[in-house]
Amino acid sequence: MSFKITKEVIEEGDIVILYLNPNNMHSLEVKAKMCNKKGEIIDNIFQTTYGALRVISLIGQKYGSKVELTRGWAYVLQPTPELWTLTLPHRTQIIYSPDISLIIHLMELRPGNVIIETGTGSGSLSHSLIRAIRPNGHLYTFDFHEQRVSIADTEFKKHGLNDFVTLKKRDVCLEGFGEELKYQIDAVFLDLPHPWLAIEHTTVALKKTGGKLCFFSPCIEQVQRTCTKLIYKGFIEIHTYECLQREMNVQYRSLPLLNLECLKYKHISEDIVQKNEKRKQEEKFLTVTHAYSLPGHTGFITIATLPPNYAFK
Ligand SMILES: C[S@@+](CC[C@H](N)C(=O)[O-])C[C@H]1O[C@@H](n2cnc3c(N)ncnc32)[C@H](O)[C@@H]1O
Repeated sequence: MSFKITKEVIEEGDIVILYLNPNNMHSLEVKAKMCNKKGEIIDNIFQTTYGALRVISLIGQKYGSKVELTRGWAYVLQPTPELWTLTLPHRTQIIYSPDISLIIHLMELRPGNVIIETGTGSGSLSHSLIRAIRPNGHLYTFDFHEQRVSIADTEFKKHGLNDFVTLKKRDVCLEGFGEELKYQIDAVFLDLPHPWLAIEHTTVALKKTGGKLCFFSPCIEQVQRTCTKLIYKGFIEIHTYECLQREMNVQYRSLPLLNLECLKYKHISEDIVQKNEKRKQEEKFLTVTHAYSLPGHTGFITIATLPPNYAFK
C-alpha cells in the first residue's frame, strides 16, 4: 500500500525502495519468505553490492531511515512513480521520467480525468498517469500480451492502485477500446508499433467536447504515418517533440588569469613580470558548463487535439 498513501513506518506487504546511491536502487516487497529458483520457500534475504539485508527486519523502520547491510548501509525510501520507473522489473522497453513528464504536461492531465493508455507494457508510464489523475480520475490500460497484463495486474493490486486503474487484455488496433468507453475519455496515450491503426478507435473514445491524443514512437516513419492519419481524421494542433535531457555542471574551477598589468609593463623588468605572473596565474571561479555527454534518443512524442463537436470522417 506504500504507493497509495504517504506513510511514516514500513509495514509488512509494503513496496520499498532500497537506495544505495543514485545509480544503485532496488524495489523490494517487505515479506518474510520468498520462493527460490528451485521452488523452495526460504527466508527473504536481499543481496546488494554492500552485503545482505533480511527484508523482514525493515518492518517498523521509518521511511527515509538508514538501514544496515552486512557490509555497509542504505536508505529505505517510500516508492514514487519516478523511483518505480528506475527499479521496476522490465518486461518491455519502458518510458522514462523525462519523457513521462512531457507527456503528462502535453496531455494536460489533472485529477478527475478519465484516460486510456495502450500498451501497458511494464507499467512504467501507468504509475505516473495514475498519480496525475488521482483521486477521482481513472486509467483504462490495454495490452494484448497475456503475461504482461497478468503481471501488471498483480503489481497494481500490490501497490494499492486498483481503485484507479482498469487493465484489459485486448488488441486495440483490431478491437478498439470497447463500447463502454465510447465518448467517455479525456485523453488517449498510445505506445504501440502501429499507432495509426488506433486513431479511428480514439476518435470514438474521446468525449464529444474534444480531447487529446498523444503517442510515443521511436522512429520518425511511425510519426509521419500517424500524423498523416491524424490530419485526415480532423485532428488539429499536431506537434512532435523530442525530449533531450541536458545537464549543466555548476562547479568551482581553477582557471588561468590573463594579467594585463604585466603585459603592459613587460618592457620594464622581466624579473618583476615573471614574479607577478606566477602569483596571479590561477584563480578559482564558479563556472557553469554543459555535461560532457547527452543521453541519446528515446522516442518522438506527438500531441494532437480532437476539436469539440468532431464529425466522424
Ligand atoms: C513498449 S511497450 C509499452 C511500455 C509502456 N509504455 C511502459 O512505459 O512500461 C508496448 C506494449 O504494447 C503492446 N502492444 C503492441 N501492440 C498492441 C496492440 N495492438 N494492442 C494492445 N497492446 C499492444 C505490447 O504487448 C507491449 O507490451
